[in-house]
Amino acid sequence: MEKAALLSEQYADEANLSTRGEFNARFLVDDHHPHDWVYSELPLAPDATVLDVGCGPGGFWTVNSEHISESWKAVLSDFSSGMVSEAENQLQENSIGGDFTIADTEHLPFAQETFNMVLALQMLYHSPYLAVAIQECERVLAADGCLYATTGSSQNVAQLYKMMSTVADGSVSSLVGGFTAENGREQLGKHFDHVERRLFENEVRVDDPDALTAYALSLPLEDSRLSAFDAEDAEALRELAAAHIREHGAVRWTKDMTLFIAKS
Ligand SMILES: C[S@@+](CC[C@H](N)C(=O)[O-])C[C@H]1O[C@@H](n2cnc3c(N)ncnc32)[C@H](O)[C@@H]1O
Repeated sequence: MEKAALLSEQYADEANLSTRGEFNARFLVDDHHPHDWVYSELPLAPDATVLDVGCGPGGFWTVNSEHISESWKAVLSDFSSGMVSEAENQLQENSIGGDFTIADTEHLPFAQETFNMVLALQMLYHSPYLAVAIQECERVLAADGCLYATTGSSQNVAQLYKMMSTVADGSVSSLVGGFTAENGREQLGKHFDHVERRLFENEVRVDDPDALTAYALSLPLEDSRLSAFDAEDAEALRELAAAHIREHGAVRWTKDMTLFIAKS
């Protein structure tokens, strides 16, 4: 997907992420928050300098506000000015200190070896030049630093994509293809000596056809992998979901999260 369309439509502000966040909070079977799980996998490093690239509205920080060490130096960056300004508001409301920068992960405005940790949560799959984005994360990491990158399986959300394809004028497929649970180790292994993989298994069970339809409409439908589906297909999707829910009780899809920990 073109960066310009991602920026101007999907990620101009936090609205689409909020819709999906609320949906996940309601319908994920394991309600342990994914940001909470990521935090629990990080080392207890009191004085770390941490860069969060593609930070969105700062969810990782606000979800973990009670645990994060006050001596961490946090730097949050995103290529969307709307996201950076929302992240700044959110961290301020939660009394978390940090610096905020509008930056494309493919061109990070930081000196080499600046950070002990770089977080790239649910964002590398958006990068058209993935190798450049990973290389930039590696460049700004200190010699003993680690990149923590999350993504999903290419099989995640399959049932929803199948339903969207049924009512759309064409087929819809997964967005995470460039950087998935299945290929992430290989992609990171080109830039780092050691890559470890950890898995958080989860599943969506949704019994509300309106919520399912709102979730579908919040996806980046400008992306060519999803663009066969548009707002005109929404009512047909709602009816298909309602029929499925009447018969089976819920629509289900897997929503696993994989965390890669990469180190040179
Ligand atoms: C799915 S959201 C994830 C937000 C956050 N990391 C989280 O896990 O809650 C993807 C975020 O990555 C940002 N993004 C996408 N491509 C980017 C790029 N090349 N450089 C910087 N930010 C990017 C988007 O603006 C959006 O805020």
